[in-house]
Amino acid sequence: MNFKAITGNYSEAPVQALVAPIFKDESADSGILKELDDLSGGNISAALQSEEFKGKEGETLYLPITGQNAAAKRVLLIGVGEQADHKAPGTAVLAGAAARFLRGKSVKSFVLITRSADSAIDTAAAAAQGVITGLFELDKYRTADKEERTIDEVIVVGDNQADLEKGLQRGRVIGDSMNFTRDLANEPANILTPTEMANRAKAMAAETGLSCNILDEAQMEALGMGSLLSVSKGSVQPAQLIVLKYEPAASTATDNSLLALVGKGITFDTGGISLKPADGMDAMKYDMSGGATVIGTMRAIGLLKPSIPVLGVVAAVENMPDGNATRPGDVVTAMNGKTVEILNTDAEGRLILADAVAYAETQGATRIVDMATLTGAVVIALGDINTGILGTSQELIDEIIASSKEVGEKFWQLPVGKEYSAQIKSDIADVKNIGKGRKAGTIAGAVFIQEFVKDAQWAHLDIAGTAWNDEPKPHHSKGPSGVAIKTLLRLVERSQ
Ligand code: BES
Ligand code: ZN
Ligand code: ZN
Repeated sequence: MNFKAITGNYSEAPVQALVAPIFKDESADSGILKELDDLSGGNISAALQSEEFKGKEGETLYLPITGQNAAAKRVLLIGVGEQADHKAPGTAVLAGAAARFLRGKSVKSFVLITRSADSAIDTAAAAAQGVITGLFELDKYRTADKEERTIDEVIVVGDNQADLEKGLQRGRVIGDSMNFTRDLANEPANILTPTEMANRAKAMAAETGLSCNILDEAQMEALGMGSLLSVSKGSVQPAQLIVLKYEPAASTATDNSLLALVGKGITFDTGGISLKPADGMDAMKYDMSGGATVIGTMRAIGLLKPSIPVLGVVAAVENMPDGNATRPGDVVTAMNGKTVEILNTDAEGRLILADAVAYAETQGATRIVDMATLTGAVVIALGDINTGILGTSQELIDEIIASSKEVGEKFWQLPVGKEYSAQIKSDIADVKNIGKGRKAGTIAGAVFIQEFVKDAQWAHLDIAGTAWNDEPKPHHSKGPSGVAIKTLLRLVERSQ
């Protein structure tokens, strides 16, 4: 797909359709709506007069262009609500919805008029990202009834040519990186084993100039990662610790500070000996979404080249039950020397993250953000709307939440604290891997991971509810969402 930027007259652009965002209760008497109304031969003002279309968020109006002065034969208006609230995140939604809608009509090229209050760079980036993520489909393994139609060209209209072009390049990187993550999350577990996940990370690193080091089980054993390895014991697939590093040519990082992104990469979660029920277990192929998010974010970092170094650590492990599997009641020792009583082998994400965050700190991490499809409890608490965020550094949490607001993602903080930490004390070891029954399950997961962070600032993202869309939306298919990548990139940029 080709993206182009233009600042002038869009009506003569050689495309099949024109797309414009329309604000709530906007009139067709002036501005863009007037221009488009003239091109459409008055069809737009007629639709507004009859109140068929009012510019409410998500409303669409698809009309023929009958005027002589445009190459395009159709115009698509998409309501974006209040003008003051329409920023780059709204442009991404609009662009995704337009791309999906027009592809459905077999349109191959369109002009996208942007009207966001954000900068031309952010707006154009959002437009390109929205188109790219909008067109993602789950049908990779279908041989029939596959969506074969493509959009070949999108011309983005705005008012600063150089900034629009910069933005489009940036948006392409972000959109492709989100789809890279979504493709990993969508892969079935017979294809995406821990070894395959490591191979994909290695190939990506070679393409983007990141360094990539894969630790095998013997190396992890030597480092004392007994908590992580307890999870892979029941699987024939060996665990892999994927370590990606981005080093800027000239770093602006102060005091040897190093941000680490750490991800849960459970390529399939059967629950282990604490076996999950059959119903819906297939969904647990996406239990590596935290790891996939780290890999996708590192891909974008490698290509966008921020001025601070970033470390990415992914624990890729399969959680299976067999004769070697860890039993409820087993005690293991983690890399930091703490002993863990494993009372439920289905609470495995925290066991692998324990060693992964400790490892990140041994590599010099001073700020750690870990991400995981960690608990069913976060789905109950926040649904598929907000990602749960917890941690010990309010400064880091505030930065992440501020970043999320700028890019249009939603995070909601839950507490940690000594009363919750008391609930994971074990009778026979330092800690146990579950809390108090069904109470505060997401917090129990977080305070467990906290035990393995030493001095670094730390935040934990529970993406169990937000990493997968059960329903399609006008701007995205159902399936993996690519959540948190945009927020983490913004966090990196705010830290430069
Ligand atoms: N991978 C699951 C969490 C999950 C549940 C992700 C639903 C996505 C959707 C995790 O490993 C798990 O099984 N957690 C248990 C923890 C419990 C045993 C303390 C849970 O949430 O039930
Ligand atoms: Zn589990
Ligand atoms: Zn899991």
